[in-house]
Amino acid sequence: MKVTSTLLLATGAAAAWTSKKVQDQNIYPPNGYTHPVQAPQPGSTYEYIIVGSGAGGSPLAARLALAGHSVLLIDAGEDHGTDRQVQVPAMHPFASEYNPIRWDYFVERHDDEQQALRDTKYTWQTPAGDYWQRLNDTSAQPPAGSTKKGLLYPRTGALGGCTVHNALLMVQATKKDWDDIAATTGDASWSASNMRQYFKKLERNAYLQGGLLNSGSHGFSGWLPTRLTPSALIVQDLKITSLLITAATTTGKGLLGSLLGTVAGALQALTLDVNTDASNRDTADLIYQMPLAMNEDYMRTGPRDFVLSVATATNSDGSRKYKLDIVLNTLVTKVNFDQSGAVPKATGVDYIFGKSLYRADPRPASNGPSASGTVYASREVIVSGGAFNTPQILKLSGVGPAAELAAHGIPLVKNLPGVGGNLQDRYEIPIVGEAPTKFSLLADCTFLAAAGDPCYDRWKAGKLAELKGSYTTNGIAWGYLKHSSTSGPDHDLWIGGSTAYFHGYFPGYSRYATAGGNNWSWLTLKAHSRNRAGSVNLTSADPRDTPYINFRNFAEGGEEDLQALVEGMQYSLSAFDKLVPLDGSFKRVWPDPKTVNTPAELRQFAIDEAWGHHASCTAPIGADSDPMAVLDSKFRVRGVSGLRVVDASAFPRIPGLFIALPTYTMSEKAADVILADAAASP
Ligand SMILES: Cc1cc2nc3c(=O)[nH]c(=O)nc-3n(C[C@H](O)[C@H](O)[C@H](O)COP(=O)(O)OP(=O)(O)OC[C@H]3O[C@@H](n4cnc5c(N)ncnc54)[C@H](O)[C@@H]3O)c2cc1C
Ligand SMILES: *[C@@H]1O[C@H](CO)[C@@H](O)[C@H](O)[C@H]1NC(C)=O
Ligand SMILES: *[C@@H]1O[C@H](CO)[C@@H](O)[C@H](O)[C@H]1NC(C)=O
Ligand SMILES: *[C@@H]1O[C@H](CO)[C@@H](O)[C@H](O)[C@H]1NC(C)=O
Repeated sequence: MKVTSTLLLATGAAAAWTSKKVQDQNIYPPNGYTHPVQAPQPGSTYEYIIVGSGAGGSPLAARLALAGHSVLLIDAGEDHGTDRQVQVPAMHPFASEYNPIRWDYFVERHDDEQQALRDTKYTWQTPAGDYWQRLNDTSAQPPAGSTKKGLLYPRTGALGGCTVHNALLMVQATKKDWDDIAATTGDASWSASNMRQYFKKLERNAYLQGGLLNSGSHGFSGWLPTRLTPSALIVQDLKITSLLITAATTTGKGLLGSLLGTVAGALQALTLDVNTDASNRDTADLIYQMPLAMNEDYMRTGPRDFVLSVATATNSDGSRKYKLDIVLNTLVTKVNFDQSGAVPKATGVDYIFGKSLYRADPRPASNGPSASGTVYASREVIVSGGAFNTPQILKLSGVGPAAELAAHGIPLVKNLPGVGGNLQDRYEIPIVGEAPTKFSLLADCTFLAAAGDPCYDRWKAGKLAELKGSYTTNGIAWGYLKHSSTSGPDHDLWIGGSTAYFHGYFPGYSRYATAGGNNWSWLTLKAHSRNRAGSVNLTSADPRDTPYINFRNFAEGGEEDLQALVEGMQYSLSAFDKLVPLDGSFKRVWPDPKTVNTPAELRQFAIDEAWGHHASCTAPIGADSDPMAVLDSKFRVRGVSGLRVVDASAFPRIPGLFIALPTYTMSEKAADVILADAAASP
């Protein structure tokens, strides 16, 4: 991929950043098996139709099929799970900007336009069709005639959904996250003690020993392998070692005793297990190494592989073992209902078939759909389109706030005012430092930009983790779980580091972030953020259009959340200050050290620049008495029958520190709930 950085002549400004709408990418030749694209059989009937194959949809589809039911899993994208950009853990930023799978949303974070435009990542489209941002050139102006697009929010339209581009981090929700759902709904099956079984069912832990010691906390035979970055990688690179030692020292805790401040002490910190079921896991401030979803070849894995293994399983005579069909390039346009009874009943979905149909896909629009049709569900339709698309699909189907549907001429099936509201996200904010020399780990890595990439070759050929080298990690080896002064009983900050200049998303960010190989980003993620003011709204009744998405950052609980972010940045600043320079020190480059230092300046920086990538909660589970609840505790859409939602939009509050693993856990629970209902009405 080549991104052009162009000097733009604008009032009083120097350099800014432009990138092509569809970026040039060095597409290596295809890399083996991909699931063939197949359209649905128009008019066909399955017991279950699942819309969306991401973290929510795929495990559920696999479980229902394994239990003997007929299942149609529909996704609007293709399968690119065997492409190098997807497979290589270190390539995850590039996976999120990889043309064959990327869905680019442009979102807003503030209602106030002046505030919105203070974000240096705010993207404009130039008259030539390219994207333009100010970035570190804070006084630059967009070229004349440019139009506002918003802030890039990367998502994936592909088999596996965002689990084929995400950063592979696998961190379980807190106990309180689950117990709160149980308390709100009165459904004790959501309690943390009950939810643990689903994590153990799905995990295939490869970083701990099985047996008595860890059997209470972990699973060792599920579909999701979890592994750690080989610690040899960390000690090989003196810059990274020094950052880790400083991270441990800066915690200010004597937790490592006399080893504090030494390489051995730092490595000892990396033996702690972030997904333990231990009672102090949510409350102790500790540094942990981060488990990643990688298989024994240190290759990305996840629900895509699970659902494909079920769909392609055969009996000894070669016949298919399970009734699971996967159809791709198939955009569901609405759920259909039988409205002849007292309660509308979902009967199936309408779809259109073709490449790049959804307009989040930045590739030149195709000629439109090559086919369209209806498929039927004899039992249920389950919507798993993710936090942006699930509310869009429900609204397009007539399930949502009556006034909004009327404004777009959509016939009302059920007035559910909560659909598309309650949008939540984590806040993320960086402190970036630049070193005079490269990380030795990245010295010869080209991130597949050039015809040859020695780092890729090592990763591919190496038989042992130590020989596979730097691409066996996502670049984020550890995280410090910490309380801010405004937290509840559980810690609310995750502070980790990354070998990149990462300050959020804008078109071309992946190449920009890794260009130098010299920069380190301390990242603060705010867990349990308080703001629920965001929403997802229709821009038209055309299912190919993307919705209007506004997070309204900090509109609720803003002061507390900003204080927490400031404390995270202060930790990061002192971690740079206190660095023991085993291999040179770091000079802070972002935010600009000339202008951003005091708590008030850091706070304003967070208002201007904070981003997120765990959008969720737009079709929330809630109490029977709550008019804004979209789902009951069994994932059923209220007021209709035969329709459920199983994905990140079903959470009432954003869970834990990362969201994919909680969503897998939820999906496993949903399978149990749906199978129990099926057994009760055969
Ligand atoms: C850059 C980035 C990095 C991330 N890193 C991490 C991480 O390291 N750890 C972590 O825990 N989380 C991470 N996440 C978040 C996590 O991956 C997602 O929140 C999670 O995958 C959401 O699951 P989902 O099932 O709700 O939706 P998705 O995974 O988005 O799946 C939705 C699927 O539905 C399909 N779809 C949508 N609409 C339609 C339609 N109308 N018809 C047919 N198909 C449709 C889409 O094509 C897509 O495949 C990251 C997210 C981003 C953006
Ligand atoms: C912005 O960052 C780039 C890359 O680090 C640097 O070359 C450039 O000088 C910076 N521009 C300004 C205005 O600080
Ligand atoms: C946007 O969506 C929210 C949540 O569904 C809803 O409350 C609000 O009325 C919608 N706004 C418009 C303008 O339709
Ligand atoms: C990272 O640091 C290097 C070395 O100072 C620099 O050349 C490069 O431009 C930086 N990257 C970015 C994105 O600023």
